[in-house]
Amino acid sequence: MRVTISDIARMKRDGERIVMITAYDYTSARIVDTTDIPLILVGDSLGMVVQGHQSTIPVTLDEMIYHVRAVMRGCERPLVVGDMSFMTYNTPDEALRNAGRLLQEGGCQSVKLEGGVAFAPTVRRLVEAGIPVMGHLGFTPQSVNQIGMRVQGKDVNHARQLLDDALALQEAGAWAVVLELIPAALAQAITERLSIPTIGIGAGVHCSGEVQVWHDILGLYSDRVPRHTRRYRTLAAEIQAALTEYAHDVRERSFPTDANSARIDPAVLADALADHTELA
Ligand code: KIV
Repeated sequence: MRVTISDIARMKRDGERIVMITAYDYTSARIVDTTDIPLILVGDSLGMVVQGHQSTIPVTLDEMIYHVRAVMRGCERPLVVGDMSFMTYNTPDEALRNAGRLLQEGGCQSVKLEGGVAFAPTVRRLVEAGIPVMGHLGFTPQSVNQIGMRVQGKDVNHARQLLDDALALQEAGAWAVVLELIPAALAQAITERLSIPTIGIGAGVHCSGEVQVWHDILGLYSDRVPRHTRRYRTLAAEIQAALTEYAHDVRERSFPTDANSARIDPAVLADALADHTELA
């Protein structure tokens, strides 16, 4: 049975840490499905780690839908959240149309969008239409050209603003909010003042849960390990070693072997070649 928003709310009430991981395709979703991780984010971070862009900005809604569909085919248990891509939720009407597509065509259970007080009317509109919304505050990657990639909320006005934003999202009906790259003590203060879960990334240990990017924790993307993440494996090195071995075996003719190959009755083959006896 698929995890529900009520299950996640209960986890917050019970003080159970809420784990979320990004996934962008069928294969990775299948792997998540074999774990007890309850939440998948099909993040527009796929713009960087899958598509090779410098930011999330080039990602389109159609691309998000494509990836959400692949993830949905790969998992039965986690609740799947799909990111609203840049410029798809500038007005409540536009947001309703596009979030509707993400749920209807993609098949995910919730959308996530970036922004605070200014987006509260949009969140309310979606929630009233039956579309669950996860908020996203702090470093909001779609605003990278305005705010740069740095820790947010370090001065009094900005810290106050972030608290107001979080309360506004909750008031508008968001069921959770991602806090990205903000000071740990501020994330704790926000978490203590909200009844909905906060999911941190670069926001310390006192959020209700944590989200990380698949490629970061598995060592698949870059050689640099940013401060907000931890590399649990270096799969890029594993894959590189496997590919090198594979290439070696092909060149040495030690792969494929007879065991990897199909057989044909020699008489059948001789018959089939009877009219073509010349070799190139
Ligand atoms: O797109 C994404 O992966 C995200 C996470 C970093 C929270 O928004």
